[in-house]
Amino acid sequence: MTARFFDPLLRAELSELQPYQPHAGAFEVRLDANESPPLLSAEAIAALAQAMIPAQYNRYPDPRAMALREAIAAQHGASPDEILVGTGSDEIIALLLTALDRPRPRAPAPAIVTPSPTFVMYRLSARARGFKVVEVPLDAAWDLDANGMKRAVDFARPNLIFVATPNNPTSTRVSVDRLRAVIEAAPEALVVVDEAYVDFAGAGAEAQGALRSAYPNVAVLRTLSKVGFAALRVGWLVGPAELVREIDKTRQPYNLPAPSQQGATFVLRELGAEIARTRDVVVAERARLSTGLAALGFSVTPSEANFVWVECERPASEVVGALAQRGVLVKSFQASGGRLLKRMRVTVGLPAENDRLLHEIAACR
Ligand SMILES: Cc1ncc(COP(=O)(O)O)c(C=O)c1O
Repeated sequence: MTARFFDPLLRAELSELQPYQPHAGAFEVRLDANESPPLLSAEAIAALAQAMIPAQYNRYPDPRAMALREAIAAQHGASPDEILVGTGSDEIIALLLTALDRPRPRAPAPAIVTPSPTFVMYRLSARARGFKVVEVPLDAAWDLDANGMKRAVDFARPNLIFVATPNNPTSTRVSVDRLRAVIEAAPEALVVVDEAYVDFAGAGAEAQGALRSAYPNVAVLRTLSKVGFAALRVGWLVGPAELVREIDKTRQPYNLPAPSQQGATFVLRELGAEIARTRDVVVAERARLSTGLAALGFSVTPSEANFVWVECERPASEVVGALAQRGVLVKSFQASGGRLLKRMRVTVGLPAENDRLLHEIAACR
């Protein structure tokens, strides 16, 4: 049976999308996916493994994930009914787009507004649900173009605005005053402030956390994936209880497996010191990696995340391809074209992995 058979049944937007496929193949050093390097202590690994064992294998997990939501709420000074948990923040993004999809009066489809470049799942998830996607280029310093965002809001009347800060792939934080201006210009939209990388950000990141209490149309996205626990697939939204209650209707009751719920609860309650240590190593290595790349002639954007945003002297895919042949995988953004042509993103790895990258890349410039 050919794919054409299903064409009349398929959502039209799918013809423009590709399945998300991370680079296949074996690489000695993988610095392509913004995961944390393996820095957990042996004791923490053993204790986490123990904590993840379900009390009863025959039973479904807690559909309300109460223990986990309480642990998350305690961290945010929020109440559990302001917390929605998902299999990664990817699922939360999908749930938001599923629930908040009513087109504005006289508009053919609902819309989202995002800066560009940013995390690809906002666009992919939105297109897969028939949303129009309006992208507003970040300014020359990779900060929000507040006026451009406001114009896009006036013109597109979005249901949702997604802003990642620190942003992927640029590693930069947006100015809080600009973000405030966008939030205030869009009182009819939900503004999702995605803080996936906030643990690696410099001073002042609390100001963006305060936006949630200051504005009723703001929700915050967080994840355990970047601080060492990507395998658990646990992310969450902190937002108004009335929003969480509605989004929750679109969630599958058992979306989060028992080992993930129990593991994440344990991480949040017991492994704060391990996360802090991981962050400190990554931040120190990020500085060393940035300096090393700059010494080799690459231009490196000052990073507030667990990866660095690098400009090469030639098209990025050439450098990334040469590195891959030498066993080191990083991510090229050449395909996006324009000012991303020479850009690549390098996740901060273990000290030895960063040394290896610096060694190999010296020969691939
Ligand atoms: C900005 C941003 N948000 C969310 C995610 C996805 O996180 P999760 O693993 O929780 O689905 C990523 C992953 O790369 C990201 O870069």
